[in-house]
Amino acid sequence: MVNVLVVGSGGREHALSWKLSQSPKVDTVFTAPGNGGTENNVPINVDDLDGLSDFAQQNNCFTIIGPEAPLAAGIVDRFNQRGLKVFGPSQQATQLESSKIWAKNFMKRNDIPTARYEIFDDAQKAQDYVKSLGYNVVVKADGLAAGKGVIVCNSNEEAFSAIQTILVKKTFGDAGNRIIVEERIDGIEASYIALCDGEIAIPMATSQDHKRIFDNDKGPNTGGMGAYSPTMIIDDTLAKKIQEKIIDKTIQAMKNEGISFKGFLYAGIMITNNEPSVLEYNVRMGDPECQPITMRMDFDLYDYFVASVDGKLSSMPPTSWKNQSAVCVVLASEGYPESYVKNEEISGFDSIPNNIYVFHAGTKKIDGKILSNGGRVLGVTALGDSLKSAITNAYTVADEISWSHKYCRRDIGQKGLSYL
Ligand code: AMP
Ligand code: GLY
Repeated sequence: MVNVLVVGSGGREHALSWKLSQSPKVDTVFTAPGNGGTENNVPINVDDLDGLSDFAQQNNCFTIIGPEAPLAAGIVDRFNQRGLKVFGPSQQATQLESSKIWAKNFMKRNDIPTARYEIFDDAQKAQDYVKSLGYNVVVKADGLAAGKGVIVCNSNEEAFSAIQTILVKKTFGDAGNRIIVEERIDGIEASYIALCDGEIAIPMATSQDHKRIFDNDKGPNTGGMGAYSPTMIIDDTLAKKIQEKIIDKTIQAMKNEGISFKGFLYAGIMITNNEPSVLEYNVRMGDPECQPITMRMDFDLYDYFVASVDGKLSSMPPTSWKNQSAVCVVLASEGYPESYVKNEEISGFDSIPNNIYVFHAGTKKIDGKILSNGGRVLGVTALGDSLKSAITNAYTVADEISWSHKYCRRDIGQKGLSYL
């Protein structure tokens, strides 16, 4: 038996901890720093690479890294140097997410479909370029900006203001030293996530996120307000196309460039006229996509993590998935993704049916009470025999749970229904 350490404190990490604790091969699952819902929390922050690796060594842990920040800081390399087993990509491989410019150039030189773009460090030149185009653009900060460094523009004026925000006002700090100005493409967005071992990539169940704060995809982007799996938007033909033209090609191209990609590879995809192109890469599971995907897993995730680390995914049996839908409705603090209040007591956790799981994100447990402690607070995740019933199940519980400034979208999963 082995112990597991899950690094992170979001809904994604709660879902991973929950799933791994079901493995007969796993003894104790620790979460660092964890949240009000995770068990065996270890008070070490995700940026304390030495503290985390000391803990993993002392407690004989196989470690799983959830969020991008410690990955980009090189946590996997640090663990490997100490001979510790750790699941996730190396620092070099995280460039796919930590530098959008690196990722765009990588896609261009390897012929992976993505929107046309140019790179700038000069605001005037960027504005002149925008003026020369006959289409709308998206302005992106190069570096990590907690999911906020992307501004989708509806006019040249919006683009000018986005250029000022990122490049001149430096709203995202050094992440905005350089920007990408890329063509805004229309279509349908979906998430495609695969588990990789440096050689091959096996797809996870398909899913779709709901990124905007308000119903009908209105308002600013967030980390994600809800997700469902599977999504009918990606049928078998399209899945094959994405796997071959994007995922397999990415893993192979990384290998050709001397970088072994291990871990979750997440491609944010825009589908236009049935053709996929990459909006962004992430080098980790999506949050909240992880929650419904994990609920549908009918296999021992721990075995697949070990196989990823050991480069042995090709010898694993095919993954199997519950033939049900799963829907995750995120309950957030009103005001998110801007400012919001914390420390409000949450009630309504009693008598939750066993086909539903409430994953915690921004919560903390004090004297047996659960308090809100972040923007995205809980992810009510329900299974159902159809997408429709999974939606109903999720909202039944979501509506039972309450605190003073609770907010959630009312239309999670509806996009999927319109494709049935
Ligand atoms: P990213 O972090 O690059 O995925 O961007 C965040 C969001 O911005 C995406 O989920 C899309 O909704 C939107 N977006 C990014 N790039 C484009 C693009 N080229 N065209 C249209 N929308 C985009
Ligand atoms: N839900 C989007 C992400 O994890 O980046």
